[in-house]
Amino acid sequence: MSKRFQDKVIIVTGGASGMGLATVQRFLSEGANVIVGDLNEKNGEAVLEEAKAQGYESQIRFVAADVSKESNIEELLQTSLSQFGRLDILFNNAGIGGAFGPITEIEEEDWDLTEGVMLKGVFFGIKHAARILIEQGEGGSIINTASVAGLSGGAGPAAYSAVKAGVINLTRAAAVELARHKIRVNCICPGGILTPLVHRGNPDMMRDRLTKLQPWPEVGEGKHIAGAVVFLASDDSEFVTGHPLIVDGGLTAAGPSAGRSNMGGSMFAGFKGLDTGTTGVTPKIVPMEKSKK
Ligand SMILES: NC(=O)c1ccc[n+]([C@@H]2O[C@H](COP(=O)([O-])OP(=O)(O)OC[C@H]3O[C@@H](n4cnc5c(N)ncnc54)[C@H](O)[C@@H]3O)[C@@H](O)[C@H]2O)c1
Repeated sequence: MSKRFQDKVIIVTGGASGMGLATVQRFLSEGANVIVGDLNEKNGEAVLEEAKAQGYESQIRFVAADVSKESNIEELLQTSLSQFGRLDILFNNAGIGGAFGPITEIEEEDWDLTEGVMLKGVFFGIKHAARILIEQGEGGSIINTASVAGLSGGAGPAAYSAVKAGVINLTRAAAVELARHKIRVNCICPGGILTPLVHRGNPDMMRDRLTKLQPWPEVGEGKHIAGAVVFLASDDSEFVTGHPLIVDGGLTAAGPSAGRSNMGGSMFAGFKGLDTGTTGVTPKIVPMEKSKK
Protein backbone atom coordinates (compact mmCIF):
# COMPACT_ATOMS: atom_id res chain seq x y z
CA MET A 1 0.00 0.00 0.00
CA SER A 2 1.30 3.46 -0.86
CA LYS A 3 2.40 5.67 2.03
CA ARG A 4 0.56 8.73 0.86
CA PHE A 5 0.24 10.24 4.35
CA GLN A 6 3.94 9.91 5.22
CA ASP A 7 4.89 12.66 7.73
CA LYS A 8 1.30 13.95 7.91
CA VAL A 9 -0.24 14.27 11.38
CA ILE A 10 -3.84 13.27 12.10
CA ILE A 11 -5.82 13.45 15.33
CA VAL A 12 -8.71 10.99 15.68
CA THR A 13 -11.21 11.53 18.48
CA GLY A 14 -13.04 8.39 19.51
CA GLY A 15 -10.09 6.54 17.98
CA ALA A 16 -10.09 3.75 20.58
CA SER A 17 -13.06 1.91 19.08
CA GLY A 18 -15.18 1.33 15.99
CA MET A 19 -14.78 3.53 12.93
CA GLY A 20 -12.29 5.80 14.73
CA LEU A 21 -10.06 2.79 15.41
CA ALA A 22 -10.38 1.55 11.82
CA THR A 23 -9.30 5.04 10.70
CA VAL A 24 -6.33 5.03 13.10
CA GLN A 25 -5.18 1.68 11.71
CA ARG A 26 -5.61 2.80 8.08
CA PHE A 27 -3.65 6.02 8.59
CA LEU A 28 -0.84 4.21 10.44
CA SER A 29 -0.53 1.87 7.46
CA GLU A 30 -0.47 4.90 5.13
CA GLY A 31 2.54 6.32 7.00
CA ALA A 32 0.81 9.04 9.05
CA ASN A 33 1.60 10.05 12.61
CA VAL A 34 -1.60 9.46 14.56
CA ILE A 35 -2.86 10.87 17.85
CA VAL A 36 -5.78 9.01 19.37
CA GLY A 37 -7.99 11.04 21.71
CA ASP A 38 -10.57 9.06 23.67
CA LEU A 39 -12.40 9.00 26.98
CA ASN A 40 -11.93 5.24 27.32
CA GLU A 41 -8.36 4.94 28.62
CA LYS A 42 -8.45 1.15 28.84
CA ASN A 43 -9.29 0.82 25.16
CA GLY A 44 -6.82 3.60 24.32
CA GLU A 45 -3.99 1.73 26.00
CA ALA A 46 -4.98 -1.45 24.13
CA VAL A 47 -4.85 0.44 20.81
CA LEU A 48 -1.34 1.68 21.71
CA GLU A 49 -0.21 -1.83 22.60
CA GLU A 50 -1.53 -3.30 19.36
CA ALA A 51 0.03 -0.54 17.28
CA LYS A 52 3.37 -1.12 19.02
CA ALA A 53 3.13 -4.86 18.33
CA GLN A 54 2.62 -4.02 14.64
CA GLY A 55 5.73 -1.82 14.58
CA TYR A 56 3.98 1.57 14.62
CA GLU A 57 5.28 2.69 18.04
CA SER A 58 6.96 5.86 16.75
CA GLN A 59 3.84 6.89 14.80
CA ILE A 60 1.17 6.76 17.52
CA ARG A 61 0.25 8.58 20.75
CA PHE A 62 -2.79 8.26 23.01
CA VAL A 63 -4.29 11.17 24.94
CA ALA A 64 -7.10 10.55 27.44
CA ALA A 65 -9.59 13.28 26.58
CA ASP A 66 -13.25 14.13 26.99
CA VAL A 67 -14.25 15.98 23.83
CA SER A 68 -17.09 17.76 25.63
CA LYS A 69 -14.49 19.68 27.69
CA GLU A 70 -12.74 22.51 25.87
CA SER A 71 -9.55 22.30 27.96
CA ASN A 72 -9.23 18.58 27.06
CA ILE A 73 -9.58 19.32 23.35
CA GLU A 74 -7.09 22.16 23.49
CA GLU A 75 -4.57 19.87 25.18
CA LEU A 76 -5.27 17.09 22.65
CA LEU A 77 -4.73 19.43 19.70
CA GLN A 78 -1.56 20.86 21.20
CA THR A 79 -0.15 17.32 21.47
CA SER A 80 0.18 17.29 17.68
CA LEU A 81 2.65 20.18 17.94
CA SER A 82 4.53 18.93 20.99
CA GLN A 83 4.85 15.34 19.72
CA PHE A 84 5.04 15.66 15.93
CA GLY A 85 5.62 19.38 15.29
CA ARG A 86 2.56 19.97 13.11
CA LEU A 87 -1.09 19.17 12.39
CA ASP A 88 -2.66 18.26 9.03
CA ILE A 89 -5.95 16.46 9.66
CA LEU A 90 -8.52 16.32 12.46
CA PHE A 91 -11.17 13.58 12.50
CA ASN A 92 -13.83 14.78 14.97
CA ASN A 93 -15.50 11.43 15.47
CA ALA A 94 -16.13 10.63 19.17
CA GLY A 95 -19.71 9.72 19.92
CA ILE A 96 -22.23 7.93 22.09
CA GLY A 97 -25.81 6.76 21.63
CA GLY A 98 -26.95 9.65 23.82
CA ALA A 99 -30.37 10.42 25.23
CA PHE A 100 -33.03 7.99 24.06
CA GLY A 101 -36.67 7.15 24.70
CA PRO A 102 -39.80 9.16 23.89
CA ILE A 103 -39.26 12.92 23.56
CA THR A 104 -41.70 13.45 26.42
CA GLU A 105 -39.33 11.54 28.71
CA ILE A 106 -35.90 12.98 27.84
CA GLU A 107 -34.10 14.57 30.80
CA GLU A 108 -32.37 17.92 30.29
CA GLU A 109 -29.01 16.64 31.58
CA ASP A 110 -29.09 13.69 29.15
CA TRP A 111 -29.87 16.02 26.24
CA ASP A 112 -27.02 18.31 27.34
CA LEU A 113 -24.50 15.46 27.49
CA THR A 114 -25.55 14.22 24.04
CA GLU A 115 -25.09 17.70 22.62
CA GLY A 116 -21.91 18.28 24.63
CA VAL A 117 -20.12 15.24 23.24
CA MET A 118 -21.33 15.22 19.64
CA LEU A 119 -21.96 18.89 18.75
CA LYS A 120 -20.06 21.09 21.19
CA GLY A 121 -17.19 18.60 21.04
CA VAL A 122 -17.07 18.98 17.26
CA PHE A 123 -17.14 22.78 17.61
CA PHE A 124 -14.22 22.65 20.10
CA GLY A 125 -12.28 20.45 17.71
CA ILE A 126 -12.84 22.75 14.74
CA LYS A 127 -12.00 25.83 16.81
CA HIS A 128 -8.68 24.58 18.15
CA ALA A 129 -7.62 22.77 14.98
CA ALA A 130 -8.36 25.91 12.94
CA ARG A 131 -6.20 28.02 15.27
CA ILE A 132 -3.24 25.71 14.69
CA LEU A 133 -3.84 25.28 10.94
CA ILE A 134 -4.26 29.03 10.33
CA GLU A 135 -1.03 29.73 12.23
CA GLN A 136 0.75 26.97 10.27
CA GLY A 137 -0.44 28.57 7.00
CA GLU A 138 -0.52 25.41 4.85
CA GLY A 139 -4.23 24.61 4.90
CA GLY A 140 -5.58 21.35 6.26
CA SER A 141 -8.57 19.03 6.43
CA ILE A 142 -11.15 18.74 9.19
CA ILE A 143 -13.58 15.84 8.96
CA ASN A 144 -16.54 15.43 11.31
CA THR A 145 -18.68 12.37 11.90
CA ALA A 146 -22.35 13.18 11.43
CA SER A 147 -24.88 10.44 10.57
CA VAL A 148 -27.72 9.60 8.22
CA ALA A 149 -29.75 10.32 11.36
CA GLY A 150 -28.86 13.99 10.81
CA LEU A 151 -30.55 13.96 7.39
CA SER A 152 -34.04 12.93 8.43
CA GLY A 153 -36.16 12.01 11.41
CA GLY A 154 -36.72 8.37 12.31
CA ALA A 155 -33.15 7.10 11.87
CA GLY A 156 -32.12 7.62 15.49
CA PRO A 157 -33.32 9.06 18.79
CA ALA A 158 -34.45 12.72 18.71
CA ALA A 159 -31.43 14.16 20.52
CA TYR A 160 -28.99 12.17 18.37
CA SER A 161 -30.78 13.19 15.19
CA ALA A 162 -30.76 16.86 16.25
CA VAL A 163 -27.06 17.01 17.15
CA LYS A 164 -26.02 15.16 13.99
CA ALA A 165 -28.05 17.62 11.88
CA GLY A 166 -26.19 20.32 13.81
CA VAL A 167 -22.86 18.73 12.85
CA ILE A 168 -23.82 18.86 9.16
CA ASN A 169 -24.58 22.57 9.24
CA LEU A 170 -21.66 23.42 11.54
CA THR A 171 -19.52 21.68 8.91
CA ARG A 172 -20.95 23.91 6.18
CA ALA A 173 -20.60 27.10 8.20
CA ALA A 174 -17.00 26.33 9.18
CA ALA A 175 -16.16 25.35 5.58
CA VAL A 176 -17.34 28.73 4.33
CA GLU A 177 -15.40 30.61 6.99
CA LEU A 178 -12.16 28.66 6.73
CA ALA A 179 -11.98 28.30 2.92
CA ARG A 180 -9.78 31.39 2.55
CA HIS A 181 -7.18 29.62 4.72
CA LYS A 182 -7.43 26.54 2.49
CA ILE A 183 -8.78 24.59 5.42
CA ARG A 184 -11.41 22.17 4.16
CA VAL A 185 -14.22 21.06 6.47
CA ASN A 186 -16.38 18.09 5.51
CA CYS A 187 -18.42 15.50 7.32
CA ILE A 188 -19.33 11.87 6.86
CA CYS A 189 -22.86 10.56 7.29
CA PRO A 190 -22.49 6.86 8.05
CA GLY A 191 -25.45 4.51 7.79
CA GLY A 192 -25.55 1.38 9.93
CA ILE A 193 -21.95 0.44 10.68
CA LEU A 194 -21.03 -2.69 12.62
CA THR A 195 -19.06 -1.15 15.50
CA PRO A 196 -19.10 -1.78 19.26
CA LEU A 197 -21.51 1.15 19.65
CA VAL A 198 -24.08 -0.90 17.76
CA HIS A 199 -23.18 -4.50 18.60
CA ARG A 200 -21.94 -4.13 22.21
CA GLY A 201 -19.61 -7.09 21.96
CA ASN A 202 -21.94 -9.29 19.92
CA PRO A 203 -21.24 -8.51 16.23
CA ASP A 204 -22.82 -11.73 14.96
CA MET A 205 -26.18 -10.81 16.44
CA MET A 206 -26.25 -7.44 14.63
CA ARG A 207 -24.54 -8.35 11.34
CA ASP A 208 -27.62 -9.67 9.58
CA ARG A 209 -29.93 -7.00 10.90
CA LEU A 210 -27.63 -4.19 9.81
CA THR A 211 -27.05 -5.74 6.39
CA LYS A 212 -30.80 -5.95 5.76
CA LEU A 213 -31.18 -2.28 6.61
CA GLN A 214 -29.72 -1.15 3.27
CA PRO A 215 -29.69 -2.24 -0.40
CA TRP A 216 -25.95 -3.08 -0.44
CA PRO A 217 -25.64 -6.81 0.34
CA GLU A 218 -22.73 -6.50 2.78
CA VAL A 219 -22.57 -5.02 6.25
CA GLY A 220 -21.10 -1.53 6.79
CA GLU A 221 -17.79 -1.68 8.66
CA GLY A 222 -15.29 0.74 10.12
CA LYS A 223 -13.02 0.26 7.11
CA HIS A 224 -15.68 1.81 4.86
CA ILE A 225 -15.65 4.98 6.94
CA ALA A 226 -11.83 4.95 7.10
CA GLY A 227 -11.78 4.92 3.28
CA ALA A 228 -14.02 8.00 3.19
CA VAL A 229 -11.76 9.76 5.71
CA VAL A 230 -8.72 8.98 3.53
CA PHE A 231 -10.50 10.54 0.53
CA LEU A 232 -11.54 13.67 2.44
CA ALA A 233 -8.08 14.03 4.01
CA SER A 234 -6.18 13.62 0.74
CA ASP A 235 -5.53 16.00 -2.15
CA ASP A 236 -7.93 13.93 -4.26
CA SER A 237 -10.69 15.95 -2.57
CA GLU A 238 -8.84 19.29 -2.69
CA PHE A 239 -11.89 21.14 -4.13
CA VAL A 240 -14.39 19.44 -1.81
CA THR A 241 -15.46 21.44 1.24
CA GLY A 242 -18.66 21.82 3.23
CA HIS A 243 -19.83 18.44 1.98
CA PRO A 244 -21.77 15.77 3.90
CA LEU A 245 -20.49 12.50 2.38
CA ILE A 246 -23.08 9.75 2.79
CA VAL A 247 -21.50 6.33 3.38
CA ASP A 248 -24.49 4.07 3.92
CA GLY A 249 -24.68 1.27 1.32
CA GLY A 250 -27.64 3.00 -0.34
CA LEU A 251 -29.73 3.29 2.83
CA THR A 252 -30.82 6.88 2.24
CA ALA A 253 -31.07 6.32 -1.53
CA ALA A 254 -33.70 3.67 -0.83
CA GLY A 255 -35.86 6.19 1.04
CA PRO A 256 -39.14 4.75 2.32
CA SER A 257 -38.27 1.23 1.17
CA ALA A 258 -35.14 1.01 3.34
CA GLY A 259 -35.15 -1.38 6.32
CA ARG A 260 -37.84 -0.29 8.68
CA SER A 261 -36.11 -0.75 12.01
CA ASN A 262 -35.32 2.36 14.05
CA MET A 263 -31.50 2.11 14.27
CA GLY A 264 -30.96 4.25 17.31
CA GLY A 265 -33.92 3.26 19.38
CA SER A 266 -34.76 -0.38 18.70
CA MET A 267 -31.96 -1.80 20.86
CA PHE A 268 -33.57 -0.08 23.85
CA ALA A 269 -37.25 -0.45 22.98
CA GLY A 270 -39.28 -0.19 26.17
CA PHE A 271 -36.57 1.77 27.97
CA LYS A 272 -35.46 5.40 28.29
CA GLY A 273 -32.34 7.13 29.63
CA LEU A 274 -28.80 7.88 28.45
CA ASP A 275 -26.64 5.57 26.34
CA THR A 276 -23.01 6.36 27.12
CA GLY A 277 -21.81 4.14 24.26
CA THR A 278 -18.48 2.39 24.67
CA THR A 279 -16.87 5.03 26.90
CA GLY A 280 -16.75 2.75 29.96
CA VAL A 281 -19.07 5.24 31.75
CA THR A 282 -22.15 3.52 33.27
CA PRO A 283 -25.25 4.10 31.09
CA LYS A 284 -28.61 5.10 32.51
CA ILE A 285 -31.25 2.63 31.34
CA VAL A 286 -34.69 3.00 32.88
CA PRO A 287 -37.61 0.70 32.00
CA MET A 288 -40.61 2.59 30.69
CA GLU A 289 -43.91 2.35 32.52
CA LYS A 290 -46.28 0.27 30.37
CA SER A 291 -48.66 3.22 29.77
CA LYS A 292 -45.86 5.38 28.29
CA LYS A 293 -44.26 2.81 25.94
N1 LIG B 1 -21.98 2.80 14.19
C1 LIG B 1 -22.92 3.41 13.49
O1 LIG B 1 -23.82 2.77 12.91
C2 LIG B 1 -22.90 4.91 13.34
C3 LIG B 1 -23.73 5.49 12.38
C4 LIG B 1 -23.70 6.86 12.21
C5 LIG B 1 -22.86 7.63 12.95
N2 LIG B 1 -22.07 7.05 13.90
C6 LIG B 1 -21.16 7.93 14.63
O2 LIG B 1 -19.84 7.49 14.41
C7 LIG B 1 -19.00 7.93 15.49
C8 LIG B 1 -18.16 6.77 15.97
O3 LIG B 1 -19.04 5.76 16.44
P1 LIG B 1 -18.69 4.20 16.46
O4 LIG B 1 -19.86 3.52 15.88
O5 LIG B 1 -17.34 3.96 15.92
O6 LIG B 1 -18.76 3.98 18.04
P2 LIG B 1 -17.76 3.31 19.11
O7 LIG B 1 -18.51 3.30 20.40
O8 LIG B 1 -17.23 2.04 18.61
O9 LIG B 1 -16.57 4.38 19.20
C9 LIG B 1 -16.79 5.66 19.74
C10 LIG B 1 -15.60 6.09 20.56
O10 LIG B 1 -15.84 7.44 21.02
C11 LIG B 1 -15.38 7.52 22.36
N3 LIG B 1 -16.04 8.61 23.08
C12 LIG B 1 -17.34 8.71 23.43
N4 LIG B 1 -17.56 9.84 24.12
C13 LIG B 1 -16.37 10.48 24.21
C14 LIG B 1 -15.96 11.70 24.79
N5 LIG B 1 -16.81 12.49 25.48
N6 LIG B 1 -14.66 12.07 24.66
C15 LIG B 1 -13.79 11.27 24.00
N7 LIG B 1 -14.12 10.10 23.46
C16 LIG B 1 -15.40 9.71 23.54
C17 LIG B 1 -15.72 6.16 22.96
O11 LIG B 1 -14.98 5.92 24.14
C18 LIG B 1 -15.37 5.23 21.80
O12 LIG B 1 -14.03 4.81 21.86
C19 LIG B 1 -19.94 8.53 16.52
O13 LIG B 1 -19.93 9.93 16.40
C20 LIG B 1 -21.29 7.97 16.13
O14 LIG B 1 -22.34 8.81 16.53
C21 LIG B 1 -22.07 5.71 14.11
